Amino acid sequence: MSLPELREVDVSYGDLPALRGVSLTAAAGEILSVVGANGAGKTTLLRAISGLLRPQAGEILLEGARIHRLPSHAVVERGVMQVPEGRKIFPGLTVRENLDLGAYTPPARSRRRESLDRVRALFPVLAERAGQTAGTMSGGQQQMLAIGRALMACPRLLMLDEPSLGLAPMVVQEIFRIIAEINRAGTTVLLVEQNTRQALALAARSYVLENGQVVLAGSGRELSGNEHVKRAYLGMCVWRAAAAGEASGYDNAVETTMNRVRLASC
Ligand SMILES: Nc1ncnc2c1ncn2[C@@H]1O[C@H](COP(=O)(O)OP(=O)(O)O)[C@@H](O)[C@H]1O
Ligand SMILES: [Mg+2]
Repeated sequence: MSLPELREVDVSYGDLPALRGVSLTAAAGEILSVVGANGAGKTTLLRAISGLLRPQAGEILLEGARIHRLPSHAVVERGVMQVPEGRKIFPGLTVRENLDLGAYTPPARSRRRESLDRVRALFPVLAERAGQTAGTMSGGQQQMLAIGRALMACPRLLMLDEPSLGLAPMVVQEIFRIIAEINRAGTTVLLVEQNTRQALALAARSYVLENGQVVLAGSGRELSGNEHVKRAYLGMCVWRAAAAGEASGYDNAVETTMNRVRLASC
């Protein structure tokens, strides 16, 4: 079962197209990542799935049911939660108050105690700082709080918009480790990132988004070995790849799985 599936989705801001013919599928239970540069359309993609933006064309399905015409609260009630870019916690409220606000749907409210225990176990720092004003915490702790707050809604699909943004490498490692743990406990994860190396390593499969279009898809290993991905996203020079004796051109395995290829010159 797919959680979610996008079929040829177009989203525009006025006349400006932000997503063009995007098709992608996350299998229930997996970590899927979408990588791409600033402005590629990653946030737009998540906002379309969340019901915050309406596609002009195409369909978005959740376990086979169309959700692209539903209001965002109805999408949340179906178990989709988005951790927004830049955290968007309530800085003037305490950690505990922020977490309590996450459990706002009726089913989540009834499981609030259990969810709080789970969040405290995943993020002990949030238990230690329950009474602290959220805005006074570090960026990493605020990201943990944003993820914890989303978990309070008991999501089946957790969507994370650039959780590594602005964080030190050690903190990013810790957050990615916790995302893997959340996934192992059964939550499907859709991660969008500019941090390509980490996202490819974490996800079972990844899509590369460029100018609102999917240009490549494959496993982390396939994409990490792809010349275009290496040059454009992993900061590897052509001569380094050549010196390492790697084949030039596109990896066949990747080529078979790509939706559409639009080669960008490096
Ligand atoms: N609210 C908006 N109004 C108009 N254009 C927007 C808006 N949000 C994003 N865009 C444009 O849509 C494109 C995709 O943006 P976005 O989805 O935010 O990309 P990413 O998250 O990958 O950085 C960009 O060209 C951006 O300038
Ligand atoms: Mg974004």
